[in-house]
Amino acid sequence: MHTQVGIIGAGPAGLLLGHLLHLKGIDSVILERRNHEYVIDRVRAGVLEQFTVDLMTQTGVEARLHREGMRHDSLYLSFAGRRHHVPLAELTGGKAIYVYGQNEVVKDLMDARIATGRPLHYEVQNVSVHNIDSSKPAIHYEADGKQEELKCDFIAGCDGFHGICRPALGDAVTFYDKIYPFGWLGILAEAAPSSEALVYTYHERGFALFSMRSPRITRLYFQVPPDEDIDKWPDDAIWDEMLKRLSTQDGWKPNVGRILNKNVTAMRSFVTEPMRAGRLYLAGDSAHIVPPTGAKGLNLAASDVLHLARAIASFYGTGKTDLLDQYSDTALQRVWKTQRFSWWMTQTLHRFPDENPFDYKRQLADLDYITGSRAALTSLAENYVGLPLDVSF
Ligand code: FAD
Ligand code: PHB
Repeated sequence: MHTQVGIIGAGPAGLLLGHLLHLKGIDSVILERRNHEYVIDRVRAGVLEQFTVDLMTQTGVEARLHREGMRHDSLYLSFAGRRHHVPLAELTGGKAIYVYGQNEVVKDLMDARIATGRPLHYEVQNVSVHNIDSSKPAIHYEADGKQEELKCDFIAGCDGFHGICRPALGDAVTFYDKIYPFGWLGILAEAAPSSEALVYTYHERGFALFSMRSPRITRLYFQVPPDEDIDKWPDDAIWDEMLKRLSTQDGWKPNVGRILNKNVTAMRSFVTEPMRAGRLYLAGDSAHIVPPTGAKGLNLAASDVLHLARAIASFYGTGKTDLLDQYSDTALQRVWKTQRFSWWMTQTLHRFPDENPFDYKRQLADLDYITGSRAALTSLAENYVGLPLDVSF
């Protein structure tokens, strides 16, 4: 078997890359380890940057997003019992974020893929990459008990943080890593959102976040120790803690409802440099991880694959490899700025185990400064809605 681009992983990065390549008439085969339902049901990201929405719109996968997604022109920063309004659109010349679950993005991209008739194989096992330093790299895998070989011109490693592609880059790469001394306990609840905007809360008991998925579903998180056992948290205790951290002096609090899903996620920042070896290119979480406080992971996966698809299309159009050679440097410019912002949001809004009362007061003063300064709020807003990126393709 042969294809132009072998894509490993059918998360947002792999599916979007396949879609962009298809629009340029480039063949790909997408290989995914899990089954179709598992990939859709995973509860993960909820916030799309303006750039991601523009890219989906520009490339024709936006119909449901514009019908069912919720445009948010603002958010709240909450501390010392008060919510402070951050008018994102007003501060950024009209840009916004959109609440539209990663599950929905993945469903839309799967439907687009199926409509093209191009291959997307689920439940493949023992995937490995070979000859990445040659002009005909190959992917080996098992499907339905049979050993297969897929020869490619290029391999895209879109297989997430625990995939096989990053380890296959060899010794010529550097990893930059930061592990945070906390994680997030997250729930989906059957409860109408009680605020029209997200609420990021710095509380003396620790960070908490109010978000949503639809007019009937609320999504909430709070900071816990990184290895917290979810079984230590019966539903009543979760609501008790959420209400303590999120409720504000004006009487606002989240609506309480049946908990549909709960889990704990550890937090880290991680970057691979360069995001490539030979003809193996990484994109999305396989190359980098950001803590979720900036709501950036999926959006960064989208910007990586836009750069990669442009570079591959340029190669097939002109025979030149300049954009492919620059791919890692180009992608990493946004990756590092996004790392910086995600780290900044994380350290501004969380309590650290080794901090002292001075640090607590300093963090409150930081938030008081940010919410009182149009310059500081503008900086936050332009990063939160996503730094400018040309979506033409
Ligand atoms: P993944 O989604 O991890 O997809 C990789 C795929 O590769 C998976 O389907 C996996 O099964 C498959 N795979 C792995 N190994 C193999 C193999 N060997 N062979 C074949 N297939 C393989 N981001 C945001 O932008 N906004 C948010 O609001 C946000 N909130 C988040 C909240 C939480 C709690 C978490 C955990 C994450 C959040 N993120 C957010 C981050 C976002 O979910 C990820 O950045 C995003 O899923 C990255 O997409 P990806 O396609 O690179 O990787
Ligand atoms: C979410 O809705 O899941 C969400 C929102 C904002 C974040 C992270 C996650 O920063």
